[in-house]
Amino acid sequence: MTRDLIIVGAGGFARETAAAVVALNDVSPTWRLRGFLDDDPAKAGRRYGPARVLGPLSTVDEWSRASVVVCVGNPRDHLSRARVVERLGLSADRYATIVHPAAQVGLGCLVGPGTVLLAQVVLTADVSIGAHVAVMPHAVFTHDDVVEDCVTVGAGVRLGGGVRIGQGAYLGAGALVRESVTVGAGALLGMGAVTLHDVPPHEVWAGNPARRLGATTLSAGAAGLPLRSAAR
Ligand SMILES: CC(C)(COP(=O)(O)OP(=O)(O)OC[C@H]1O[C@@H](n2cnc3c(N)ncnc32)[C@H](O)[C@@H]1OP(=O)(O)O)[C@@H](O)C(=O)NCCC(=O)NCCS
Repeated sequence: MTRDLIIVGAGGFARETAAAVVALNDVSPTWRLRGFLDDDPAKAGRRYGPARVLGPLSTVDEWSRASVVVCVGNPRDHLSRARVVERLGLSADRYATIVHPAAQVGLGCLVGPGTVLLAQVVLTADVSIGAHVAVMPHAVFTHDDVVEDCVTVGAGVRLGGGVRIGQGAYLGAGALVRESVTVGAGALLGMGAVTLHDVPPHEVWAGNPARRLGATTLSAGAAGLPLRSAAR
């Protein structure tokens, strides 16, 4: 039986998630994608791929029987997804987990509600991915990695074993993280960052080897972290 699905946001990541939903349905009919919710009036009613923008986020209550996935966020405002989840205030059981059929989830791995894994993502073994995590194609997580809620993982990121990524962090495309390293909550790794040491919360690091560039402009408080609605 298929279930109704609403995607919150209608930007690039939302459309990528819609494509993953279509791919999933091709393998086994799972979701009936009802549409996107987006606050941009210019997008109202527009069709993006398989569905239309149904209205602003405030209309989410009209879809009380649908599952929801929040697909907003970009490197310039990497905590926006956390804020939207907080604003919606939905319980964890309302959120869909979308795993592209070409992703690989190994033994002992957990993937939380509201999380999206795009094509060719690999979780080897005993990886824990929290709620509302966005993972772009070809990211590789290895044994015992822990990724907390609302993290964004760019395309081609690779984590060594036993890495921990704190809530709301952003890992730029192609970043590499050495085994057992911790990246703090809200931190941002630049594209290709070769991360050899722990990164404190809310700092920006980049380069090879990665070094501190500065602090992020958004605080945990501004992002509504920690997230009560992500509790599992
Ligand atoms: C790290 C990052 C956040 C810095 O952005 P920014 O604050 O706008 O910084 P700037 O572009 O002004 O660059 C500041 C300095 O850092 C350097 N720098 C920026 N990004 C870098 C990177 N990824 N690696 C190495 N150095 C980098 C710049 O060359 C510049 O150096 P300079 O002062 O010696 O000239 C950004 O470049 C980045 O990598 N974002 C991630 C984007 C991403 O992954 N997109 C894919 C989405 S899936």
